[in-house]
Amino acid sequence: MATEMTQTPASAGQTQTPFALEGRDITKSLPLGGQRIEILKGISFAVNHGEFVAIVGPSGSGKSTLLGIIAGLDTPTSGHVLIDGIDITKMGEGQLAGVRNQKIGMVYQAFNLIPTLTAQENVEVPLYVGKHQGLPSQRAKDMLALVGLAHRLKNRPNQLSGGEQQRVAIARALVTQPALIIMDEPTGNLDKANADNVLNMIRGLQQQTGTTFIIATHDPNVAAAAQRAIRLEDGRIA
Ligand SMILES: Nc1ncnc2c1ncn2[C@@H]1O[C@H](COP(=O)(O)OP(=O)(O)OP(=O)(O)O)[C@@H](O)[C@H]1O
Ligand SMILES: [Mg+2]
Repeated sequence: MATEMTQTPASAGQTQTPFALEGRDITKSLPLGGQRIEILKGISFAVNHGEFVAIVGPSGSGKSTLLGIIAGLDTPTSGHVLIDGIDITKMGEGQLAGVRNQKIGMVYQAFNLIPTLTAQENVEVPLYVGKHQGLPSQRAKDMLALVGLAHRLKNRPNQLSGGEQQRVAIARALVTQPALIIMDEPTGNLDKANADNVLNMIRGLQQQTGTTFIIATHDPNVAAAAQRAIRLEDGRIA
């Protein structure tokens, strides 16, 4: 059978470009009660542009810790994180804040919405930092409509359900159209219908805009939709 595999021009062209994200021997240890606990014990991986990678593993295995480090919110004890080939572990606060605002969208496990702002204002916030296209209020409304919250624009986080807060956090992460989106349990508080909506948005963005997704999840549907899973066990890649 003549099933010759020819390399497509697209994949051939990508071989020269750096990875969207690279982790090099990342460790994290923290002092705890006079000792040091090792949370991450040497994590190395690379993610291609436009790839959808799931981070899976038991509770406490280090998924959130790893995501915080690759998003530049936390520093590794040793090792390096490269975004588009650029080492962010060597950057100062100001430069790092710029990279985060321009290139990365983050959805936290605990949402981290600003309690005094409405849903719409929370989604607008990243648009007032740095340069972004469109009118912030309109973009925020459009994003909230996409996650099914057009009727909750004026509610503050304590006036929203857990699943609604999660969807506001997702809208906020997507509103700047970042090339790299990092999500920590994005469907953890959603019912089936909303989890399906979020997963469809992820798939759509990935296919239409080539956005790269790194998603920590316990949700089998999210893990199944990913192109690849990185499994963490006790701070190591299993
Ligand atoms: N600030 C901290 N001080 C001490 N230990 C911590 C700290 N933050 C996290 N840990 C510990 O590090 C380990 C990894 O935590 P992490 O939140 O990364 O796990 P996870 O894989 O995201 O778990 P889950 O699936 O429950 O969200 C856990 O054992 C946790 O107790
Ligand atoms: Mg976690």
